[in-house]
Amino acid sequence: MAGLTIDNFPLCNSEPERAIPHYLIAHYWWAYTHPAAVRVFERPWLVNLILFGNYARLCNAVLAEFGESLPGRTLQVACVYGDLTPKLSRRVAQSGGVLDVVDVVPLQLQNLARKLPEAARTRLLHMDSAKLEAPSSRYDRALAFFLLHEQPAAHREKTLSELIRVVKQGGKIVIVDYALPQPWHPLRYLWRPLLATLEPFALDLWGEQITKWLPPGIPVQTRKELFFGGLYQKVVITVESELSSCTL
Ligand SMILES: C[S@@+](CC[C@H](N)C(=O)[O-])C[C@H]1O[C@@H](n2cnc3c(N)ncnc32)[C@H](O)[C@@H]1O
Repeated sequence: MAGLTIDNFPLCNSEPERAIPHYLIAHYWWAYTHPAAVRVFERPWLVNLILFGNYARLCNAVLAEFGESLPGRTLQVACVYGDLTPKLSRRVAQSGGVLDVVDVVPLQLQNLARKLPEAARTRLLHMDSAKLEAPSSRYDRALAFFLLHEQPAAHREKTLSELIRVVKQGGKIVIVDYALPQPWHPLRYLWRPLLATLEPFALDLWGEQITKWLPPGIPVQTRKELFFGGLYQKVVITVESELSSCTL
């Protein structure tokens, strides 16, 4: 692979499968689709402030979970503000692997392209996480960083189904997102009204385990770790191979 490539974008959004979903336009225009969004939010201190000082810690948790060596194909569904993707891209390139980053908003892919070096072994793909245009078992691992809380339940279910479909058996799917803080945590009470107003589907993740939206009948192993008094969670999903799921 030559370097940074930009596939499927910029496109007009006339293809229905790549149209910007309604929830992004209705509830997240200010964060992702408005032309000024990138100018406002692409600031490390602001991203860190929104995460109450936890941005580096959560990014490090992702990178540590994947490990130093990332050969093969890595998928990141949805761009994120800040330097997580450049760091991941560097680690993938050092391992001789390739990174595909998918986003449904062309503006976000254009912003990511500016943050990556020309030589990055990374493809930026204009796609909806709920309808990945990739063959089954294509990837060795995948990441969704603060994506699921933005999606209505039906979209979240499809995203998880697609991740499980495109990641090989035994490969890790790493999810970082909101969770219900401990009862003693002040943000359990202070953050709730703000989340309910600004991010209407986020409180789903306070009320349910992420496993609730996994497709039924697929043998998976899940592991969960909480951060910052439970406000954030990292969930690692591994699709079991048929061999390891049968009882001997
Ligand atoms: C990963 S989320 C949240 C990131 C977090 N607020 C941050 O920047 O650190 C934001 C990204 O998800 C993208 N996104 C939302 N729904 C999507 C979908 N269905 N398919 C692909 N990308 C999606 C948005 O366009 C945006 O770039």
